[in-house]
Amino acid sequence: MCGIFGYAGSEARPEVLIEGIKRLEYRGYDSWGLCLAGNDRLSLMRRVGRISGVDVSALALGRDGSPLSGIAHTRWATHGAPTEANAHPHVDCAGRIAVIHNGIIENHAALRASLQSKGHRFTSETDTEVIPHLVEELLKSESDFTSAFLAALKLLVGAYGIAALWAETPDTIYVARHGSPIVLGVGKSSTLVASDPAPLVTHTRDVIYLDDGEAAILHPDGFETRTLEGTRVSKRVQQVAFSLQDIERGGFPHFMLKEIAEQPESIHNALRGRIVRSEGTAKLGGVEEDLLRRVRRCHIVACGTSWNAGLVGKYLLENLARIPTQVTFGAEFRYGHPVLEPDTLVIAVSQSGETADTLAAVREAKLIGAETIGICNVVGSSIARECGKGIYIHAGPEIGVASTKAFTSQLVVLSLLAVHMGRMRGMSLRAGLLFLDALERLPAQAERILGEKEQVARIARKYAQCRDFLYVGRLYEYPAALEGALKLKEISYVHAEGVQAAEMKHGPIALIEPGVPTVVLAAQAEIRDKMLGNTHEILARSGKVIAVAQEGDEELANLAHDTIFIPKTLDPLVPILSVIPLQLLAYYVAVERGCDVDKPRNLAKSVTVE
Ligand code: AGP
Repeated sequence: MCGIFGYAGSEARPEVLIEGIKRLEYRGYDSWGLCLAGNDRLSLMRRVGRISGVDVSALALGRDGSPLSGIAHTRWATHGAPTEANAHPHVDCAGRIAVIHNGIIENHAALRASLQSKGHRFTSETDTEVIPHLVEELLKSESDFTSAFLAALKLLVGAYGIAALWAETPDTIYVARHGSPIVLGVGKSSTLVASDPAPLVTHTRDVIYLDDGEAAILHPDGFETRTLEGTRVSKRVQQVAFSLQDIERGGFPHFMLKEIAEQPESIHNALRGRIVRSEGTAKLGGVEEDLLRRVRRCHIVACGTSWNAGLVGKYLLENLARIPTQVTFGAEFRYGHPVLEPDTLVIAVSQSGETADTLAAVREAKLIGAETIGICNVVGSSIARECGKGIYIHAGPEIGVASTKAFTSQLVVLSLLAVHMGRMRGMSLRAGLLFLDALERLPAQAERILGEKEQVARIARKYAQCRDFLYVGRLYEYPAALEGALKLKEISYVHAEGVQAAEMKHGPIALIEPGVPTVVLAAQAEIRDKMLGNTHEILARSGKVIAVAQEGDEELANLAHDTIFIPKTLDPLVPILSVIPLQLLAYYVAVERGCDVDKPRNLAKSVTVE
C-alpha cells in the first residue's frame, strides 16, 4: 500500500515533502522518492530504505519567488523489487512529466509494449511507469496537458491514486482517483493531496475526498475537480476530526482490527489479474509453467501462522492436484536431514519473507537440489529473493504482530496454485470454473462475516475470563483450529489448543469441563455430521460449545451455547472464511483482558533470529 503526498504553494520545499511522507511511514514501505517543479524543470530524488538522514536541500529549485509544487511517495513494492529505479516518481522520456501512484495497473504490459513500439524508453520494472509515457504520447495530439492526463487515465485498467507534475506548469499538481483513496487538503495559500489525511492535518483540517472516476487540478490558491470526461464536479469540504493516531489506523482502535477488516480487499487483491476463466485455471506469473508440470511432490516449509496456512495448502494440493505434499516447520526442515525425492517442489510460505528458520530451510532445500518457490507478502524480501521465483500475496503491509489478512491471502494464493496444478493433472474445466467462482465470491462473503463482528464481540466478552480454550476441526478446518488457537494465545495470553476433532477422544477430551469452552469448526459440508458428533461429546461432559457453522445449520445452532454463521462455500475454501470469526474472537478477548493487541508481549512481527 503506497503513500502519496503533494503540495502546491510557496512552501513547496523538499523538507515539507519529506515531512509529508514521513507521516505515511506507518503504511509500510521499502523505498521512497520526491520531485519538485520550478524554473522550467523537474528536480527528482529516489532512495531505497528508510526516510532518514538524507540531505534533500540540493533538490530545492532556485527560487524566483514564484510558487512551486512538489510530490512525494512511499513505495510498497508490488511489481518490481524495491530498487531506486523502481521507486517513484517515474518520468517520461524527456523528464518533463513526473508521476506517483498507489494501486495496480492491470493492463500495464500491453500499454508498455504499445509505447515501446512508438519509441518510448522504460527504465523500471514497475506498472506505474507506463503513466508518464502515456501522457507524453497523448500530449502530442491533445490540446493541453489536462486533456492528455484525462485521456491517459481512461486507458488504464486497474486501481490507482495518482499525482503528477509537468515542468511547463510548475505550480500545478494533476490528481486522479480510481480504486485507491485520494484526499485533498485546502490550505490558505496552498493546496495539498495525500493517500489519507495523516500528512494534511499539520497544514489544514479542511479536506475533500475524491471519488472513483474523479480528477483534480491543484494550484496554490485553489483547485478544480472534474470527471475523467472533463465535466466539472463540485465537492464538499469536510473537517478532519480524528487524531493522527486514529488516521494511521484508519479510524480503527488497533492495526489488527483494521487488518481483519481489510480482508475483503486483500482477498480481492490476491485474486486480482490471476483468474483465467476461459481455461478454468489461474495465471501465476512468477512461476514457470514447465516447472509446475514436472513437479511430482511438494514440500511446504513455514513457521507459525504461515505453517498453519501451509497445512491447508497440503490438503489443497493433494485434493485438487493429487500431488503428495508434506508440511514441515522451518526449524525442523533445516536440522531434520530431510529426504527430498527428485522433482520435489519446496514451497516457502512467509508473510515477512525474513523468518530465519524458513530462510534457512530454503537454503537447505536448494543445497539438496530442490526447486523452490516463495509465497510471500513483502516484495524483494530475503526468502523471495532466495527462492528466485514465487507468488506474491499482495496483502499490503501487515502492522499488527498477529497475522490476519496475510493468512487468508496465503490461502487464496495456495488455492490458485492448487487449481492451476490440478487443471494440469486432469481436473475438469467445469470443476476448475466452479472453484474459481467460489474464490471470486470470497471478498463479498468475508464482508458479510465482518458485518456480524459485534456478535463475535458479545461472545468474546462472555468467555473472556476463561483460562483455557480448545479449538477443534477436521480436514481443512483442522489448520483453522490451530490458527484460531494461535491467535487467541498470542494476543490474549490465554492458553488455547487446536485439536484434530477425532483426536479429542484420544486424550484432550479429558480437559473438558464447564469453564473450558470449545470452539467447534463445523462449516465443511462433507464432515459436518462428524462435527455434530464431536459437539455432542463435548456437551455430554458439560463443556461449553462455540460453533462456527454454515449459514442455515439450525440443528447445530440449537445444540451449541453460541454460534457464528459463515456463508456457504466449497469445503477447500471454508478456512478462508471460518478463520475470520476466530481472528475477531481472539481480538475481542484480548481487548476485554486489556492486552496490547498490536504489540503482544514477547513477540516480534518478524522472527529473524533462530
Ligand atoms: C502469527 O500471528 C505470528 N506473528 C507468527 O507465528 C508468524 O506467523 C511467524 O513468525 C511466521 O512469520 P512469517 O509468515 O513472516 O514467516
